[in-house]
Amino acid sequence: MKVAAFVGSPRPDGVTDAVVRQVLRGAEDTGADTTLFHIGLLHIMGCHACMKCRKTGVCVLDDDMRPLFEELRKADCIILGTPIYFYYMTAQMKAFTDRLFSLIGEGFKSRLGRKKTVFVVTQGAEKPELFINQIDSMKEAWGMAGLDIIETVQVCALESAEEVMEDEELMRQAFLTGVDLCRLGIKVFPASPK
Ligand SMILES: Cc1cc2nc3c(=O)[nH]c(=O)nc-3n(C[C@H](O)[C@H](O)[C@H](O)COP(=O)(O)O)c2cc1C
Repeated sequence: MKVAAFVGSPRPDGVTDAVVRQVLRGAEDTGADTTLFHIGLLHIMGCHACMKCRKTGVCVLDDDMRPLFEELRKADCIILGTPIYFYYMTAQMKAFTDRLFSLIGEGFKSRLGRKKTVFVVTQGAEKPELFINQIDSMKEAWGMAGLDIIETVQVCALESAEEVMEDEELMRQAFLTGVDLCRLGIKVFPASPK
């Protein structure tokens, strides 16, 4: 099982990264191979709307997104992480998302197939309900590209990776989310090995 995580924060050691890493630890506990990409540190252009990918399925832009298409293809499961910036995903995550346009084929069918995906979203505001509509719209957009969000971890008003790691319940839930991502649909008995 391969799991690829994409973090859209420009802060590689921020809150989003810390939560995504904990989800990855849960995935690794099931034996998964994991890789983490910091989109915020890469050079990813926005879509140029040349429409060449409509026929070919291949994006003509030659930048850091190119190898990520291959990573998306190879992965069995995906993790997407972004902070909320001005009521939506970061610009870096939006550029990555717009480039997924090349993965949408005939009849809006994803050329990627369907991939189980966990969404980690972090925000400064304390109230989780503030961004319900935005979160739904992000999930819908990624679903178009074949990334089906099966679970969302929403983290409010934590200011640093240290605060994330001190929050035992968040760490436990994020870990279990990683386990579920790889195990969902599989039930193993006996529940506790002899
Ligand atoms: C440019 C910018 C815009 C932001 N906009 C919002 C916002 O609209 N709503 C909110 O709750 N938090 C907002 N925040 C706070 C971040 O979402 C929050 O601190 C997040 O956890 C940072 O994640 P990171 O540490 O992974 O970068 C913003 C932060 C920045 C730098």
